[in-house]
Amino acid sequence: MPFLSLLSILLFGLLSWSQLVITQLLNDQTTLVEIGKELKISGWNVNSSEYCSWPGVSCSSKNSSVERLDLSSHGLQGNLSLISELKSLKWLDLSFNKFHGIIPSAFGNLSELEFLDLSFNNFGGSIPLELARLRNLRALNLSNNLLMGVIPDELEELEKLQDLQLFTNRLNGSIPPQVGNLTNLKVFTAYENELSGVIPDKLGLLSELQLLNLHSNKLEGSIPESIFNMEKLETLVLTQNRLTGYIPESIGKCKGLSSIRIGNNNLIGGIPREIGNISSLTYFEANNNNLSGEIVTEFSRCSNLTLLNLASNGFTGTVPLEFGLLSNLQELIVSGNSLFGDIPTSILRSKTLNKLDLSNNRFNGTIPQSICTTTRLQYLLLGQNSIRGEIPHEIGNCTKLLELQLGSNYLTGSIPPEIGHIKNLQIALNLSSNHLRGHLPEELGRLDKLVSLDVSNNQLSGSIPTALKGMLSLIEVNFSNNHFTGPIPLFIPFQKSLNSSFLGNKGLCGEPLSISCGGLDDSSHDAYHHKVSYRIILAVIGSGLAVFASVTVVVLLFMMRERQEKAAKDAGITENDTSDDPVILAGNVFVENLRQAIDFEAVAKATLKDSNKLSTGTFSTVYRADMPSGMSLSVRKLKSMDRTILNHQGKMIREVEKLSKLCHDNLMRPIGFVLFEDVVLLLHQYFPNGTLYQFLHDSTKKPDYKPDWPTRLAIAVGVAEGLAFLHHVAIIHLDISSGNVLLDSNFSPLVGEVEISKLLDPSRGTASISAVAGSFGYIPPEYAYTMQVTAPGNVYSYGVVLLEILTTQLPVDEAFGEGIDLVKWVHTAPTRGETPEQILDARLSTVSFAWRKEMLAALKVALLCTDTTPAKRPKMKKVVEMLQEITQN
Ligand SMILES: *[C@@H]1O[C@H](CO)[C@@H](O)[C@H](O)[C@H]1NC(C)=O
Ligand SMILES: *[C@@H]1O[C@H](CO)[C@@H](O)[C@H](O)[C@H]1NC(C)=O
Ligand SMILES: *[C@@H]1O[C@H](CO)[C@@H](O)[C@H](O)[C@H]1NC(C)=O
Ligand SMILES: *[C@@H]1O[C@H](CO)[C@@H](O)[C@H](O)[C@H]1NC(C)=O
Ligand SMILES: *[C@@H]1O[C@H](CO)[C@@H](O)[C@H](O)[C@H]1NC(C)=O
Ligand SMILES: *[C@@H]1O[C@H](CO)[C@@H](O)[C@H](O)[C@H]1NC(C)=O
Ligand SMILES: *[C@@H]1O[C@H](CO)[C@@H](O)[C@H](O)[C@H]1NC(C)=O
Ligand SMILES: *[C@@H]1O[C@H](CO)[C@@H](O)[C@H](O)[C@H]1NC(C)=O
Ligand SMILES: *[C@@H]1O[C@H](CO)[C@@H](O)[C@H](O)[C@H]1NC(C)=O
Repeated sequence: MPFLSLLSILLFGLLSWSQLVITQLLNDQTTLVEIGKELKISGWNVNSSEYCSWPGVSCSSKNSSVERLDLSSHGLQGNLSLISELKSLKWLDLSFNKFHGIIPSAFGNLSELEFLDLSFNNFGGSIPLELARLRNLRALNLSNNLLMGVIPDELEELEKLQDLQLFTNRLNGSIPPQVGNLTNLKVFTAYENELSGVIPDKLGLLSELQLLNLHSNKLEGSIPESIFNMEKLETLVLTQNRLTGYIPESIGKCKGLSSIRIGNNNLIGGIPREIGNISSLTYFEANNNNLSGEIVTEFSRCSNLTLLNLASNGFTGTVPLEFGLLSNLQELIVSGNSLFGDIPTSILRSKTLNKLDLSNNRFNGTIPQSICTTTRLQYLLLGQNSIRGEIPHEIGNCTKLLELQLGSNYLTGSIPPEIGHIKNLQIALNLSSNHLRGHLPEELGRLDKLVSLDVSNNQLSGSIPTALKGMLSLIEVNFSNNHFTGPIPLFIPFQKSLNSSFLGNKGLCGEPLSISCGGLDDSSHDAYHHKVSYRIILAVIGSGLAVFASVTVVVLLFMMRERQEKAAKDAGITENDTSDDPVILAGNVFVENLRQAIDFEAVAKATLKDSNKLSTGTFSTVYRADMPSGMSLSVRKLKSMDRTILNHQGKMIREVEKLSKLCHDNLMRPIGFVLFEDVVLLLHQYFPNGTLYQFLHDSTKKPDYKPDWPTRLAIAVGVAEGLAFLHHVAIIHLDISSGNVLLDSNFSPLVGEVEISKLLDPSRGTASISAVAGSFGYIPPEYAYTMQVTAPGNVYSYGVVLLEILTTQLPVDEAFGEGIDLVKWVHTAPTRGETPEQILDARLSTVSFAWRKEMLAALKVALLCTDTTPAKRPKMKKVVEMLQEITQN
C-alpha cells in the first residue's frame, strides 16, 4: 500500500509535470499563432507543431518554450501586447520595423527578458515605468523612435543592465542621477535628444562604462570631474551641447580613453597638461569652444594620436615642435586661432600626415623646402596667415595634394611651374591675395582635375596662357586684380565666368569682359553669353562627388563646343543661322490618329526659335511646337548627340519606338521623332502645367500660393511608381530631377527623359558621353567612385526630388552654406539643433496636424533614399509601398 501510494504519487507527479509542459507548449504555440496573425508575419502560418523552427523563433531545448524572438527588419506593425504572454522569453528584437503607438507596458511582465531591442521604429509616448521590472535585463535599446518625456528614475532598478541606448528620440528633462546606480553599465548613449540640465556627477560611479555618448542635446554646466574616474571609459562624446567651464584635470586619470569629442560647446580655459597621461588617445576633437592658452606639448606623449582638431578657439603661441613625435598623426586642424611662428617642419616629417589645416591664424614663417619630402599630404590649408617668402619649387613634390590653399598671405616671387606636377589637385588651388609676380606658368594647364583656380589680387603679368585650356575640369576661375594682358583664351570655363573674374587687369580683352581685342580676338561671335550663378556652383564644390560631376559636365560642354565649332565650320554657317528650311532626314508618329496633325517641318522650325524654349536639362532642351493643325507638342531636342547615334539611326528609331509602347501612367512616352541635319527630336504630348520644378519653385513664390500637401504627396507617389516600373523593366534613368517631371492637367506626374537612358546606354555602345550622371544636386555620392548610374543611384536622386517636395528648397542653394547641398542640409539638421519641422516647408506643415504627420513620415522615406551607402537605400518598389502607406493612414 505504501508502495502503491508512492507509485501513484510519482505517477501523478510525472503526469502533472508533462501536463505542465504540454500546457506551456500549447500556450506558446497559440500565442505565436495569434502574434503571427496580428502582425501578419508571413512564414508563420505553416505547420504549427514546428513553431520552434519558424523564422525568428528559438526555443529552449528542454521544454520547447520560446526563448528568443527576432523579428527585426520585417516591416511589421500591429499590437505587440501578446508577446508578453511568452513568459520564458529572454531575447526580443523588434528593431527596424514600423511599430508605432506606446511601448506596451505588458512587456514589464517578461521577467526572464535579458535583451530588448525596439530601436528604429516609430514608438511614441514615454518610456513605460513597467520596464523597470525587467530585473534580468542586460541590454535595452529604444533608440531611433519618437519617444518623449523624461528618462525614468526607475530604470536604476535594472541592476544587471549593461547596455542602455536611447539615442535619436525626443527625450527631455535631465539625465537622472540614478543612472549612476546601474553599476554594470558598459554602454550609455542618449545622443540626439532634447536632454537638458547638467551631466550628473554620479555617472562617475559607473566603473564599467566604456562608451558615453550624449552629443546633440542641450546639456549645460561643466564636464564633471568624476566622469574621468571611470577607468574603463574608451569613448566620450559630448559634442554639440551647451557645456561650460574648464576641461577637468582629472581627464588624465582615464588611461584607456581613445576618443574624446567635446567640440561645439562653450568650454573655456586651457587643455590640462594631464592629457599627456592618456596614452591610448587617438582622437581629440575640441573645436568651436572658447579654449585658450598654448597648445600643450603633452599631446606629443599620446603616441597613437591620429586626429587633433582644435579649430575655432582662442589658442595662442606656436605649434609645439614635439608634435613631430606623433608618428600616427593624420590630421592636424588648428584653423581659426591666434597661433604664430613657423610652419611646424617637424610635423611635416610624419609619413602619415594627410591634412594640415593652419588657416586663419598668424603663422609668420615661410613655406619650408622640405614641405613634402616625406608626407603624403592631401590637404594643405595655409590661407589667411602672414606667411612670407617664396613658394618653394619643392611644392611640386606634394603629388598627393587634393587642395592647396595659400591665399591671403605675404607670399612673394613667382608661381613655381612645379605646381603643374600636382596632378591630383582637384578641389582648389588658391594663391589669391599675395604679392606674387611674373607669368602664369603654362604647366598649370596640366591640372586637368582642378575645379577651382584663384590667383586674384596679386601682381601677376603677361598673358593668360592658352595652355590653361588643359584644365578640363575647371568651373571656377579668378584672375582679377593682376597685371594680365592680351586676349582671354577661348575656353568655356572662362567665357562662362562672371566678368568680375577678369576685372582689374588693364590689359585683358575678350569675353566675358565686354572689351574687344580688335584683330586679336575671335571671341566676339562666341555663343556663350549666358552666365551661370557661380556661388551656386561653388556650393557644390568641396564634396568629392561634385568634383567628379563637374569634371564630366565640363568635359561634356567641352566636347559639345568642339563639335559645334566643327559643324559650323563644315557647314560654313554660324549656329544661329535659321534662314534655310530644315532638311528632314526621317520622322515618324507612332500614334495613328495623331499622324495628320503633326507636321515635321513645323516641329523642326520650332526648335530653332529660342522663344519656344520651355526648359533645358543635362541632355536635352525642350521646346513648345505649335502645329498648323492647332495642336501643341512638347519637343525634346537631344543635346550633343554623338555621331555614333546617327550612324545607328535604325537602332535608335527602334529604341524610341519600343519606348513609345512602354505603358505606365507616370512615364512620358514619345509619340514620335524627327531627325534633321544632325539633330534628334523626340515628340511628346504638351503639358501646360509645366514641370515639377516650376510647380515647386516658381508657383509657390506667387502671393496667392495656397499650400496643398495632398497634391504634393500624390506627385511623390506617382514619380516613385513611374521609376519603380522603369526598374521593373530594367531601365535605369540617367537624369532624375524635378525638371524632368512633367505635370498633366490633373497634376499627375509623368517622368520624362526616359529615352536618353536607352539612347545613351553605354552597354549598347551607342554613346561615348555615357559618363554624365545627371543634374547637380541629384547625383548620388557613390558616383564619384563608381562613375556608374545604378538603381540605388536612382533612388538617391528620387530622394532629392522628395526632399524638394517636402522643403520647397532647391537641390543646390548657396543659402545652405559652402559645400552643402539640400541632402546634406537636411541630414545635418539635428547637429544644428534643428528639428525636422524646421526643415519642412512650414506653409504646409503648419496647416494641420495630419499634414505635418504625413510630411514627417515622408521625410523619413527621403532620408532613407538619400543614405550615403547605396546598399542601405530602399528599392524603388519599397519606396512606393512606404509612401502609399502614408496616404492610406
Ligand atoms: C506537420 O508536421 C508533421 C510532423 O512533422 C507532419 O507529420 C504533418 O504531415 C505536417 N502537416 C502539414 C499540414 O504539413
Ligand atoms: C523551460 O526551461 C527554461 C530553462 O531552459 C526555464 O527558464 C523555464 O521556466 C521553463 N519553462 C517551463 C514552463 O517549465
Ligand atoms: C493591444 O491589445 C490589448 C489586449 O490584447 C489591449 O488591451 C490593448 O489596448 C491593445 N493596444 C492597442 C494599442 O490597441
Ligand atoms: C502582468 O502579470 C500580472 C500577473 O502575472 C497580471 O495581473 C497583469 O495583468 C499583467 N500585466 C499586464 C500589463 O499584462
Ligand atoms: C541596440 O542596442 C543593443 C545593445 O547595445 C545592441 O546590441 C543592438 O545591436 C542595438 N540594435 C541596433 C539595431 O543597433
Ligand atoms: C542609488 O545610489 C545611492 C547612492 O549613490 C543610494 O543611496 C541608493 O540607495 C541607490 N538606490 C538603489 C535603488 O540602489
Ligand atoms: C596604440 O595602438 C595600437 C594599435 O591599435 C595598440 O596596439 C596599442 O596598444 C596602442 N597604444 C597605446 C599606448 O594605447
Ligand atoms: C612672428 O610673430 C611673432 C609674434 O608676433 C614674433 O614674435 C616673431 O618675431 C615673428 N616672426 C617673424 C619671422 O616675423
Ligand atoms: C623635390 O623637388 C625638387 C625640386 O623640384 C626636386 O629636385 C626633387 O627631386 C624632389 N624630391 C623628391 C623626393 O621628389
